[in-house]
Amino acid sequence: MSGALNAIQRMDALAAGQGGFFYPWTSNLGAGDGEEAYAELVERHLSPNLTVLEAGCGHGPDVLRFAPQVARYVGYDFSEGFVRIARERADQAGLKDVELICSNSSAGANGGRPRIPMGDASVDLIVSRRGPTNFILDAPRVVRPGGWLIQLNPAPSPRHAWDDELPEDLRSEPARDFDIAGHISGLLAQADLALHSGWSFDVPEHFTDARQLYAYLAWNQFHGLGLRAQPLESALPSLQAVMAKHAGPEGLDLRRRRYLWCARIA
Ligand SMILES: C[S@@+](CC[C@H](N)C(=O)[O-])C[C@H]1O[C@@H](n2cnc3c(N)ncnc32)[C@H](O)[C@@H]1O
Repeated sequence: MSGALNAIQRMDALAAGQGGFFYPWTSNLGAGDGEEAYAELVERHLSPNLTVLEAGCGHGPDVLRFAPQVARYVGYDFSEGFVRIARERADQAGLKDVELICSNSSAGANGGRPRIPMGDASVDLIVSRRGPTNFILDAPRVVRPGGWLIQLNPAPSPRHAWDDELPEDLRSEPARDFDIAGHISGLLAQADLALHSGWSFDVPEHFTDARQLYAYLAWNQFHGLGLRAQPLESALPSLQAVMAKHAGPEGLDLRRRRYLWCARIA
């Protein structure tokens, strides 16, 4: 496997290797990281007569949770591997009125403009747990007036003073300074939509074991699949040195950040 895998190939490799989108490390995560707040916000918008679309449904954890609560649930993802797993899980759970589609909503895959794989005014609610943001630009076409968009976005963890002490191939990407709330507001404005509500989450994520720190850092270099990072055993001495110098009583705190937002279609 080379470091030049594209995003779809990386997701297909995760589907084949892990069976889903799971983080392969162990850490101590502070409470209230935004993931359950997202599910609760979505559930407050569900009702039995709605058609719901999920952008970037992955291996389908939210399909199983949300689909039984609505009339029709459609999930799409650009990874065939993830869609296959999501279909199997939905079938095993005996879910009816669920469609899972392999589709890429990006501008690049759709002649220069993002496109959601649904007809005009056919959806009441679009939900997305850490899925793509490009769907926002096509949402006004697909969502009926009065409908909602709800998304949870990963936000980059901050740059740490000790980043420069990490092996070069495990250092943070420049994208760590990315302003996710500003990015979402910009996309909503382009779609002629306004933010209804936005919440930022920023909780501790402590590492006490250098091997788990390696798993985290390697994952962040192309989800650990591009194999750009050096092997664990050669990185371990410098990661142990960083932990010995910078970890507090609870471990080394990398922070876990999320942004949760919703918008209404006029
Ligand atoms: C962080 S994963 C989250 C998956 C799932 N929502 C979950 O919570 O487990 C992001 C998902 O979005 C999908 N994705 C990213 N960009 C996409 C695009 N342009 N079109 C369709 N799916 C996309 C990826 O394949 C991946 O499954």
